[in-house]
Amino acid sequence: MPQTNQALLGEGEAAHRDTAGRTGDGSFVRIDRLTKRFDEVAAVDGVSIDIRKGEIFALLGSSGCGKSTLLRMLAGFETPTAGSIELEGAEISQLPPYERPINMMFQSYALFPHLTVFENVAFGLKRDKMPRDRIAETVEAMLNIVQLKPYAKRKPHQLSGGQQQRVALARCLAKRPKLLLLDEPLGALDRKLREQTQFELHNIIKKVGVTCVLVTHDQEEAITMADRIAVMSNGRFLQVGQPHEIYETPNCRFVADFIGNVNLFDGTIEAVAPDHCVVATNGGRLTVGHGITGGPGMAVSVALRPEKIELSREPPADRASNCFSGRIADSGYFGRYSVCRVTLAGGMKLQVAITHSERNGDLFVSGEEVYATCQPESLVVLSA
Ligand SMILES: Nc1ncnc2c1ncn2[C@@H]1O[C@H](COP(=O)(O)OP(=O)(O)O)[C@@H](O)[C@H]1O
Ligand SMILES: [Mg+2]
Repeated sequence: MPQTNQALLGEGEAAHRDTAGRTGDGSFVRIDRLTKRFDEVAAVDGVSIDIRKGEIFALLGSSGCGKSTLLRMLAGFETPTAGSIELEGAEISQLPPYERPINMMFQSYALFPHLTVFENVAFGLKRDKMPRDRIAETVEAMLNIVQLKPYAKRKPHQLSGGQQQRVALARCLAKRPKLLLLDEPLGALDRKLREQTQFELHNIIKKVGVTCVLVTHDQEEAITMADRIAVMSNGRFLQVGQPHEIYETPNCRFVADFIGNVNLFDGTIEAVAPDHCVVATNGGRLTVGHGITGGPGMAVSVALRPEKIELSREPPADRASNCFSGRIADSGYFGRYSVCRVTLAGGMKLQVAITHSERNGDLFVSGEEVYATCQPESLVVLSA
């Protein structure tokens, strides 16, 4: 994959280049330079993005970066300070929430405790004066999709957290919204249940085919559930891309650091060729398997994921890869894998992830001298 100048955008620059998220005129939701100020602070700062029909689009970022504010503007609970929101070509940003073909599921799903599962899902349809037999049909279809048909007569307190969450989703979907908004949908579930529910939720949304914007601060949730992710910071989009693009080719230090674990080297460009470059770093001289826009002397960072490093006790025979020598500082055992920290000659600590494919595999111990290697293609140059 060519990754030339993409990798060298500064954070601010990247934010204004989010036209990369544009998909042309076939877009379903078009957000253009959308801004929301509270007093003088821009909670959402000139965001532009096109979302495709049927897409699950995640807004990912730490608390306070503006995710909910952006979602609330889509729902109609906040009025934008500037910018526009189009749904299927029609401007909606000034419409009240109930006139938008949009439904939002909140973190606390607020089911009615005195109503059954069936009645909870039917609630909005009754209010819309849908005929009784059509309500029954629709609710049954929805409960089927979320696999809760046998639970139709139960009250919310007779359900597990995950089941309650699916009732709330069925209630949102029953009105057949064109756009489904989910704000931290799995926030109330414990870890194990979250992991399961991520897949279920993804499958349900895909089955129904509804376009969805999902807010989360959890990178794993965004990666498992979304077709595309926008990484947000300070009200702006830093990078928009498919999960693997965000993970494998982050466009700035913030994104590299925010998604997963990463080793970041500080360095200076020594040489640039179309298909590779050489960077002198605090961890040694690195050959990077992609070209960059920029020349010798430029200060950069180089990102390397812990699972892309190999450790050995013997010096590697393969001279083409990058090699560091060092000493195991400490290691942690996590069942499926271990993480070793290797102190390099210059003092930098390198995180290395080792998968345990054998039951009684040989583990490295503190103090051992080791060689760490990585392929040039595993490295990504970022603006410093
Ligand atoms: N109604 C409000 N009045 C004033 N400031 C607000 C309001 N809502 C949100 N903010 C501020 O806007 C910023 C973004 O908030 P929010 O969108 O809730 O972030 P996130 O959902 O990413 O955690 C925060 O600094 C928050 O304090
Ligand atoms: Mg929020």
